[in-house]
Order: sequence, then C-alpha cells, then structure tokens
Amino acid sequence: MIENLEGKFKKCFELATLGETLAFPNPNVACLIYHDECLVSYGIHKEFGKAHAEVNAINNLKEIFSKSDLHKKYKSFTDYASECELILNLEPCCHYGNTPPCTSLIIESGFKKISFSSYDTNPKVHKKSLEIFSNSIFELISPEKLSQEIQEKSQFINRAFFSIRKKEIENRVSTYLSLKIASYPNGNMLTQDGARWITCEESRKDVHRLRSTNQILITTSSTIKADNPKYNVRHSAEDLKLLDIKDPDICVLYNKEKILPENTTSTRKIIYEKLDNLDKQTLEKIISELSFQGYQKIMIEAGPTLSKAFIASGLVDELIIYQPKNHRSKEKFIKEVESSFNYISSKNKIFELENDYKLVMLSA
Ligand SMILES: NC(=O)c1ccc[n+]([C@@H]2O[C@H](COP(=O)([O-])OP(=O)(O)OC[C@H]3O[C@@H](n4cnc5c(N)ncnc54)[C@H](OP(=O)(O)O)[C@@H]3O)[C@@H](O)[C@H]2O)c1
Repeated sequence: MIENLEGKFKKCFELATLGETLAFPNPNVACLIYHDECLVSYGIHKEFGKAHAEVNAINNLKEIFSKSDLHKKYKSFTDYASECELILNLEPCCHYGNTPPCTSLIIESGFKKISFSSYDTNPKVHKKSLEIFSNSIFELISPEKLSQEIQEKSQFINRAFFSIRKKEIENRVSTYLSLKIASYPNGNMLTQDGARWITCEESRKDVHRLRSTNQILITTSSTIKADNPKYNVRHSAEDLKLLDIKDPDICVLYNKEKILPENTTSTRKIIYEKLDNLDKQTLEKIISELSFQGYQKIMIEAGPTLSKAFIASGLVDELIIYQPKNHRSKEKFIKEVESSFNYISSKNKIFELENDYKLVMLSA
C-alpha cells in the first residue's frame, strides 16, 4: 500500500499549508483519516495555541460516527477507529504544551495504523512517539520508510519552522529571513521601458500570499518613494489557498529620510530602523532588534541596493526569485539563477507560473 501513500501525502501537504498564516510559530500540520482507502475525516492546525490537527480530525470523525449509521455497525468508536489509518505530515506531540499530548488521544481513540512524514525536531517530542506507539499501533510508517520525495516535500512545507527550531536549540537569533526579488532574465530589478511590472499577475498574487504568511516586511524609504506600495494582501484567503489572510507589519529602513508608506491600515505596526551602513553587522543588528520585538518570520521586499547587501551578508535563509520565462526551459532558468546567486542546493524548488518561473533557493 506504500504506492497509495503518495496521493494521501499530497493531499495532506495541500491541507497543511492552508493554515500557514495563523499556525505560525507552530508548524503547518494536517491529519487525514482514511477508512477502506476513503478519506473520512481531516483536521488542520488552524491557529497557534489552538487544537492540533489530530484533535480536529479525530473530533470531527467522532461527530460523523455518532450522527451516522456507523454507530449501529460498530460496537464503539474505538472499534471503528481500529480499522482507520492516520496520515500526518508531522510526528504527533507527546507532551503537555498549550494542548494535551496527541499521542494519548490517538491511542485512547483506538487507532492502529499511522504514517507521518517528518519528525518533530523539538527535543521534547523528537522520535518519542516511536516508543509510545510501540505497544498499541500495529502499523507505524515513520519518515525514513517513506519515499525521498515525500520526505523532502514534508521538510519543505515546514522549512521555516525547522530552521527556527534549530536556531533556538543552537542559541542563535531565531528568525527566518526570506528575500523576494522580481527581476528580468539579465538580473535587472528595475522596471524597463515604462512597464509597471516585471512579472505576471500570478506571480504578483503569489507575493500577496507570501506577505500574508510573514509577520513583518522589511522595505526602504527609497522603494516607498519610488513605488508607494501598500504592502497589503489584496486577494481573498480562498484565492490564496489560505484559511485566513493577514496584512504583515512593516519595517522601513532609511538612511536619510523616514518615509511613511501610504494607505496602510491603523491595525498594522510600522517600525523605523536607521541604516547607518549596509554591512553585515548593521543588518544583523536590525534582524536581532526585530527578533527581540517578537518577529521571527520576516520577508524583505526592497530594491537592488538593500537586496544585494542582505545577500552578501549571508543572513538570508531563503531567496525567492521571480523571472519571466522568456522562452527558456526550466533547467536553463534554474542553472542561470542558481549560479548568479551562488545558492546551489538540491533543496531548491522551482514553480511554474503563468508567464514566469519562481525559484525558492535555500541557504546551505
Ligand atoms: N524588482 C523588485 O523585486 C523590487 C522590489 C522593491 C523595489 N524595487 C525597485 O527598487 C528601486 C529602489 O531600489 P534602491 O536600490 O534605490 O533602494 P533599496 O534597495 O530599496 O533601498 C536602499 C536603502 O539603503 C539605504 N542606503 C543606500 N546607501 C546607503 C549607505 N551607503 N549606507 C547606509 N544606507 C544606505 C537607503 O537609504 P535612503 O533611502 O534613506 O537613501 C535605502 O534605505 C525602486 O525603483 C523600486 O521600484 C524593485
């Protein structure tokens, strides 16, 4: 049945990323429940501090069980659950945090079959479920028993969470910094020939999704002066494949003049930071300051001067490049971009949009 797992995990990853805006700083997690190869229930971790995906999926299944004829066919819910299979993109928690341990709920509910595609790197949880489940779960498929492709996709959807956790364990500033660049194939980031945009509508919509899934955007007075951007999310949650959307706070970096972005709502916080220099030390201090203020998931949307300075500093965890396809093959585009930014990694991920390519490049 391993081959059926590809499809089940594909669905699991799609559902998990719906919670991306509100689940943070928790990971994106979905729990799917199958019976006789049919999806009978699912749950998503929708919001930090609220019920985990497993709780939502199991409670939903209990309700279905009690309201349908299933309770006539089975002696109890646990009888029915013993025939079901749980699919999860993260190891279930086994400790008391904001919510009770999911491993206990799974065992008490009677489940016997479970597959999960990533271990939780939290030392309180990491691989602990293997022992906890050893007496009660008869069929346990842990990440290393899954295909490389499933494991990599699972890591990718929670890359910010895993990176932040690792930095916390290593006592480093625990932020995840993404830098978004729209450029022409020659690398130019400034619009040419009077054009309003470099990239297509689908790419710009994708940037709105990125804004919603980051806590704060870093921009500059130069870019505000040139573009007067609203830096808000101008698509519906449904359109962006999210459960909810949120405008990020804004951090404006300036050297000479503080400029206020126009049309920003009063509910968003705007922070100003003076840029005395463009060197690593100065940029590092700004990121530490934002981290001190509680920001962890940060995105830079600025022009070439600041973008180049951040790339040179080595502080960027993820570079997101949008470029018009310009009749190039995917392979040619990847080769050109990876070599010009020196971000060559097997973990990089390409997306094909309407007229553009998008490459997410992860720092080593
Ligand atoms: N394609 C894209 O993805 C993209 C995204 C955003 C913006 N843009 C375009 O980028 C253009 C603006 O780019 P840009 O390169 O001029 O600006 P930028 O990269 O957005 O900002 C540079 C920042 O560095 C500061 N600065 C410059 N020299 C400095 C120095 N020696 N020491 C300390 N701070 C210094 C500037 O301060 P002051 O402003 O106070 O001088 C400014 O805050 C706009 O035309 C905009 O349309 C493109």
